[in-house]
Formats: sequence, structure tokens, C-alpha cells
Amino acid sequence: MQIDYKNPELTVTSQIEPKEIAWQSPSNIAIIKYWGKHGRQLPRNPSISLTLNEAHTRTEISYRAKVATDRPIDLEFYFDGKQNPAFANKIERFFTSIIDIFPFLGQLKLVIHSSNSFPHSAGIASSASAMSALSLCLCTMEQELFGTLQDKNEFLRKASFVSRLGSGSACRSVYPVAAAWGTSDHLEGSSDLFAIDCASTIHPIFKKFHDDILLISKAEKSVSSTAGHGLMDGNVYAAPRYQQANDRFKALLEAMKTGDVAQFGTLAEQEALTLHALMMTSNPAYVLMTANSLKAIRLVQQYRKDTGNPLYFTLDAGPNLHLLYPDSVADEVSTFVNDALQPLCQDGDVLKDVVGEGAVRYL
Ligand code: PMV
Repeated sequence: MQIDYKNPELTVTSQIEPKEIAWQSPSNIAIIKYWGKHGRQLPRNPSISLTLNEAHTRTEISYRAKVATDRPIDLEFYFDGKQNPAFANKIERFFTSIIDIFPFLGQLKLVIHSSNSFPHSAGIASSASAMSALSLCLCTMEQELFGTLQDKNEFLRKASFVSRLGSGSACRSVYPVAAAWGTSDHLEGSSDLFAIDCASTIHPIFKKFHDDILLISKAEKSVSSTAGHGLMDGNVYAAPRYQQANDRFKALLEAMKTGDVAQFGTLAEQEALTLHALMMTSNPAYVLMTANSLKAIRLVQQYRKDTGNPLYFTLDAGPNLHLLYPDSVADEVSTFVNDALQPLCQDGDVLKDVVGEGAVRYL
């Protein structure tokens, strides 16, 4: 049976008490990349990510009974304390698209406040943390209004499913440490519909991994991820890429289970460069790396050769490098980052992050 969570019974029939709830949800960094989708936000291949700690979104929703209005969804949205109509429209569209999952959304007046721990224009994708924080709030609202979703795993699975509908990669953000999304014969319980928790299957070394984000450029991307996914449909390398991603998914799971940092790092770098190669072979072709991205890549690889320290990089769909390394080399890497890599970053900005414990409810 295909889960779709459509449930006309989630309609409030008694008086609605006003209430506030809030979740903090982190960003995540994919090691095996999701690039290419079909249907309603379904991935073309399985992906795995590490959950971050410092980069997160905090979202508070206060709700009360809606007074008669012709708007199907009645919401106000504030970002960093300021009303933001562009984001409000986006969320209104998202909520309208999931009203058959949460029909009670049509019965409420919603006021949403959201903020990010990282600067708005840092060139870091905020959709994963933002969409997962929102979806977690919606599941808590359901829980409080109807007494459903009492089981933690069931709760997180639905939150992941709904996050996916908001932004694919967001479905991996609800879990601590590491999450996998996309059906694979090599991971029991894996699904295209939601992510699953991988924390228990990975070696402890990855639970304390670092991710220093080099802000090579804070400019908005010239081609959005949505457009990038779309261009995979005409990419001649699409079919072999999806096969390759499946093979690498299996290899990465094995490396993460056994604590094989060198294999993990090799796959992370291969995936980063493959992602950008796919962009460069799309039609139209485009390049998101800049000269400083390439300089930083060369310096990281040379540093690894010279010192033997396990320092690796990955890239998102943008020019900024994520530096991945175990805690054991953190002091040495910090000196190298400050001396050699920071000068390549816009305003010298580096965001230092580590693997985190996942989303938390704070209200
Ligand atoms: O979730 P989206 O549609 O923003 O796509 C994210 C794509 C990558 O960040 C490049 C890879 C990934 O798996 O997160």
C-alpha cells in the first residue's frame, strides 16, 4: 500500500483553543546527492546526508479558530520579526497543496514566525531546515488537536513525508546524525516517500564529524535547485548517473558502518564533482563553482597529500565548499582553514558546524 496520509477525518469538530507551538530544525548536507526527480517530489536515486547542528531554522506557529474569510488558508508570516509576503505566499501554496493531509489547516488562523541561525544571504540553502521545521509544527498541531501520532517513529515519518513535499532534501533533516531517503535494496525500510534514520547503523566516528562551510560566495544562485532537477530530464548522462548513485549509496552505507573515513571522503568528493558535472552537461549548461571554489578544492587535496589528515570536501548546488573531517584532526584543520582557506571566502566568512542531534520542539 502506498502511504499518502490523506485523511478527511482530521477536521476539528469541537471548539479550538488558541495555542503556540515551535520547532527548531537543522539543515543537512548530502554525501550521496539527490539530483533529479519525478512525480510529486520523488527522487530518481537514493541519497544520504549528515544532519547539521548550528545551521537551523526556528519556527513558531500560533493558531486559533479562523473567523470567516474566503481565503482557504489564512496565515501571516514573519521572517526575523518582519512580515514577509513573498515567503507567506510560498507557504500558503505549500499548505494549500497539503490540505488533504491536514484538512484542519482550513479551519485555523495561523501566525508564523521564523528565523535562521545563519545569515539570510549566506548562500546557504535554507529550504531543508525551513520546510522541516514547518512540517514538524504541523504534525505537532495534528497531535495536539486529535491525539494522533503518539508514536515517535510514526510522528517523524509523517513529518519527513510532509517535509519532502515542501522541499525534497528537507525530509532528511528531521532525524539525528544521518538520514537516508530513496528506495534501495541495500537499506531495509528505505523509501522514496520519506527519509529514515541511519544513526544506529553508522560508526561513532561520524557522529562527531565536522562540516566547516566555506562561504566562497554569498550571492544567490543563478540557477535554482528546482530548475537544476528539471534539467536532469534531458541530460544524456541521467541513466548512468542514477545507476552510479545507487552503487555509491551502497558503498557509502558500508563505509559509514565500518568507520572507513577514507572511503567516505572519496565518495563525498566524487559525488560533489559529479553533481557539478551534471550541471555542466545540462542543456542549457551552467557552472556554479567559481575560481575560488576550485582553488579551495586544490588546497584541500594538497593538504591531505602533505599531512595525511583525512580532510575532504563536498559541494551543494552552489560554489561553497563543505569541509568534512573527524574530530580527531579538528585543531590542525582549524589552523589550515584560517591560514589558507578563509582568505578565499567572501568577507572571510566560514560557518563551523558539526553533526547534530536533529530537530527539537521548544514550545
Ligand atoms: O531539496 P532540493 O530540491 O533543494 O534539492 C537539493 C539538492 C542537493 O542539495 C544538491 C542535493 C541533496 O541531496 O541535498
